[in-house]
Amino acid sequence: MGDTIETGAIRKVCVIGAGVMGAGIAAQVANSGTPVLLLDIVPDGATDRDAVAKGAVAKLLKTDPAPFMSKRAAKLVETGNIEDHLDRVGECDWIIEAVVERLDVKQALYTRLEELKRPGTAVSSNTSTIPLGKLVEGRGDQFRRDFLITHFFNPPRYMRLIEIVRGEATDPALAQRVEDFADRFLGKRIVPAKDTPGFIANRIGTYWLAVAINAAMDQGLTIEEADQIGGRPMGVPKTGIFGLIDLVGVDLMPLLSKSLSSTLPQGDPYFDTLRPMPLVDRMIADGYTGRKGKGGFYTFDKATRTKRA
Ligand code: NAI
Repeated sequence: MGDTIETGAIRKVCVIGAGVMGAGIAAQVANSGTPVLLLDIVPDGATDRDAVAKGAVAKLLKTDPAPFMSKRAAKLVETGNIEDHLDRVGECDWIIEAVVERLDVKQALYTRLEELKRPGTAVSSNTSTIPLGKLVEGRGDQFRRDFLITHFFNPPRYMRLIEIVRGEATDPALAQRVEDFADRFLGKRIVPAKDTPGFIANRIGTYWLAVAINAAMDQGLTIEEADQIGGRPMGVPKTGIFGLIDLVGVDLMPLLSKSLSSTLPQGDPYFDTLRPMPLVDRMIADGYTGRKGKGGFYTFDKATRTKRA
């Protein structure tokens, strides 16, 4: 009997934030046969207030490799916006927050969720770097009991692990329900992580990506040259390091660096690596945010080289 789980425990999931990660997570939840409500902001001046989440699902249907296992799974994703539909979190057993990597934005959302969700509904953040202790600052006891970090990897259908951070106050039974669901229904291997800056993967990963960018810039290498050194030999044969940043989102890099440097202990050797990256700032300003934008490092490198020629 130890192996049986309460399959009915998580019958509906809400994912808030329909960007690179939220949309992919919603698809993987739908692949398990579970209905999902996917919400995002109302875009400025839009006639369709659900346009962001709807657009994200439409994009997923054209993405390769496919985030959905079938068109039937895609139909399990219902789209909406946080102004008109946030109260529908009351229908859900697990709320996954996957909004932009900014503490203020996440905390503002939790303030609203605290009012609207049922006690005992799990809330988890997909944050890459923000410690759980900071995320729940100002929240009441019940919210803290219901809260944990579930850090999915990109792309959520294909990366088979999930880092889970439980807070001191997290209800162990609630965390177990989420972990069982992630294991049995989403096909994830659970990696328990401590509430430390960047947890495990991003403490190592952000450093490694930042070193690659800094080294390429400092040594005047082209993106191809840098990836020849840092791609296959470093175990990233398909995308290379820069292709990986394009997949993750170029705009996430400064947010990760900022967030990590604000939580690392003084004197940590990381600090120099996480210095501002003017090239990345320029790319973001020009719309080169990676696959979700006009393109990433390779496209930007080619476009600026052509202009220079
Ligand atoms: P993204 O920039 O692609 O998407 C963020 C989405 O959040 C956007 O659609 C934006 O409109 C929406 N948003 C902003 N404020 C909102 C609010 N108040 N309510 C609802 N939606 C709101 O970002 P991405 O890359 O999907 O990252 C989301 C989270 O996942 C971040 O915490 C990030 O650190 C984490 N993460 C990202 C990974 C990646 O490979 N990109 C991997 C693992 C974690």
